[in-house]
Amino acid sequence: MNYAHDFHAGNFADVLKHVVLVRALLLLARKDAPLRFIDTHAGAGVYDLAGERAEKTQEWRAGVGKLLDGALTRDAMEPVARALVKPYLEIVAGPLGEARYPGSPRIAAALLRPQDRLVACELHPDAFARLKAALAGDSRARPVELDGYLGLKAFTPPPERRGLVLIDPPFEDREEFARLSRALPAAVRKWPTGVFMLWLPVKDPRAAQDFARGLGEATAPHAGRGALRLDLEVAPPAPDAPLARTALILVNPPFGLFEEAQAILPELARVLGRGRGAHLVEWIVQPR
Ligand SMILES: C[S@@+](CC[C@H](N)C(=O)[O-])C[C@H]1O[C@@H](n2cnc3c(N)ncnc32)[C@H](O)[C@@H]1O
Repeated sequence: MNYAHDFHAGNFADVLKHVVLVRALLLLARKDAPLRFIDTHAGAGVYDLAGERAEKTQEWRAGVGKLLDGALTRDAMEPVARALVKPYLEIVAGPLGEARYPGSPRIAAALLRPQDRLVACELHPDAFARLKAALAGDSRARPVELDGYLGLKAFTPPPERRGLVLIDPPFEDREEFARLSRALPAAVRKWPTGVFMLWLPVKDPRAAQDFARGLGEATAPHAGRGALRLDLEVAPPAPDAPLARTALILVNPPFGLFEEAQAILPELARVLGRGRGAHLVEWIVQPR
């Protein structure tokens, strides 16, 4: 387990994941009924953008750095998309200050209401210690030092019966795809009304397409609100180049997220694209 998110925090892939996470939680929070956010691979919670690891890759500068640039935000993004991205920018540019970037559990905690709950699993001892500190004092939040796939089984369905699971593994080995192909459909079967959001790196577009289609087929019998795929590509694919394309698969996306993604993703591709940016917003499985 060598992966450390500190090298990648705030990069283009985090921007897509966290913008969509914010939109999904805001849409779910339109109803007063309590909801639960389950983060199976939660990370450290807060990342130092001035630290050695972030400095080494500088990935955040081509991601959240571009969006936080006032001029780009004000002038270069189409107004509907800008309004939809704004809550995300307010959270990431908020109380932590410019040189720190919040991870998914802190972003979710910023949006959850007093009646909501958060469970965050993290297996790496160093990251877990930081996660505990990042969530300290928030009585709604429960950090757990546990394998995320075990957490997925143990914590679904939650007592609230409403909520969102983020599955964001490090993809250190190819076995991760096989584990996901088993674990996600099983979780949807157990909790057919839950929203499931899976992050994916896209290195081989055809393999990603097959994987997404397979997940769609496996979850379709249980997920009444279908499955959505969102892709963001910031540079043309090139062998041995750093990751330039990322995808999210949302099973049972909240009502309205498809339309919001249609407004946001073209603008993210345009603002974050280096030379060429591209995006995809498509139903893998249509809602029933
Ligand atoms: C991509 S990072 C998570 C980033 C975080 N979700 C965010 O958006 O801010 C993946 C995390 O999963 C952790 N991890 C790796 N294997 C795990 C496992 N089996 N269960 C739980 N966490 C794991 C890694 O230590 C790493 O912190």
